[in-house]
Amino acid sequence: MKIQLHISLRPYNTMHIDVNSNAFCVIHTESDLVSAIDWCYQQNMPLHILGGGSNVLFTKDVEGLLIMNKMKGIQIVSEDEHFVCVKFMSGEIWHECVMWCIEHNYGGIENLSLIPGTIGAAPIQNIGAYGVELKDVFQQLEAMELESRVKNIFTVDDCKFGYRESVFKQELSGKFCILSVTLKLSKVHTYHTTYGNIQDELNKQPTAQLSIKSISDAVIAIRQSKLPNPVQIGNAGSFFKNPLISKAHFTTLKNQYPAIPNYPDKDKVKIPAAWLIEQCHWKGFREGDYGVHAKQALCLVNYANATGLQIYELSARIITSVQQAFNITLEREVNIW
Ligand code: EPU
Repeated sequence: MKIQLHISLRPYNTMHIDVNSNAFCVIHTESDLVSAIDWCYQQNMPLHILGGGSNVLFTKDVEGLLIMNKMKGIQIVSEDEHFVCVKFMSGEIWHECVMWCIEHNYGGIENLSLIPGTIGAAPIQNIGAYGVELKDVFQQLEAMELESRVKNIFTVDDCKFGYRESVFKQELSGKFCILSVTLKLSKVHTYHTTYGNIQDELNKQPTAQLSIKSISDAVIAIRQSKLPNPVQIGNAGSFFKNPLISKAHFTTLKNQYPAIPNYPDKDKVKIPAAWLIEQCHWKGFREGDYGVHAKQALCLVNYANATGLQIYELSARIITSVQQAFNITLEREVNIW
């Protein structure tokens, strides 16, 4: 394992922000991880772990050692005629694992096709799309506590999953490195096709046969039509969470904006942040190299050389205008470093 000093992180974040890290290394094994942690303690430096760099906005240089996780491996741990439990090492690329599942006819994560990032990052924010969340198929994960180097198993309850939330974004933030994630996948499938325009997309396909592959193809087509490809335009997917508001607040807004899209959620109502942002005329906004994507208002973009601070300030302006217009405080979904 080689430690590089003072390197640019631009190739390692999908927002393409050009900041430096004091030190950087790539780990392929658990023993690389332990060596990297030891090095940090010797140097008295902070340590940070990066997966695909697809849910982070760097606003300043990173102090300390940034570890890029490339621990790979896929292993079946148990199976019967209905289910298979598969352990994915945390440095595996999420979408490649989805494709592997489809090839093997293991169902459960096809709606999560084309989400950028790694397996290890998926539980941290409980990734979700098109009616499915990671927690729906999650069995357990193994993580190493950085300070003690002790390995722990986390069950679904231990992870405290919520909407784009887990214990790893809250009280355990920065304390563990996720080593592997085990998912319980189906051999006899239940299809989730009711979200948004999945069904419309499926209807366009030449074969009428519903399968995990056809759902994955539909999700890929929808995502490619709306979300910018981070290889071409820097972005980190949804920049904000969809806010939950009270029913009373919703009734007031509905009187004012009869067309307001809404999704009841227990005793609250979820409003698409993209709609709120669009109403405030930010969709397609561009100033210099930063802006709001023209096809999905939830996506902030870096066209070339925007700084993390410029994008952060743009997000603050959006939060203020949505607050003034709707009395709703948007929360950032992307991790700010
Ligand atoms: N909408 C607008 N303007 C837009 C886009 C959307 O008004 O520019 C409204 C429409 O009413 C639309 C509704 O928002 O029907 C929902 O839009 P969409 O289905 O595109 O989903 P979203 O709520 O904007 C969420 C996730 C995405 C995920 C999609 C699909 C969050 C923060 N975002 O977006 O996740 O792919 O649903 O399930 O929950 C991510 O987390 O990075 C991400 C991309």
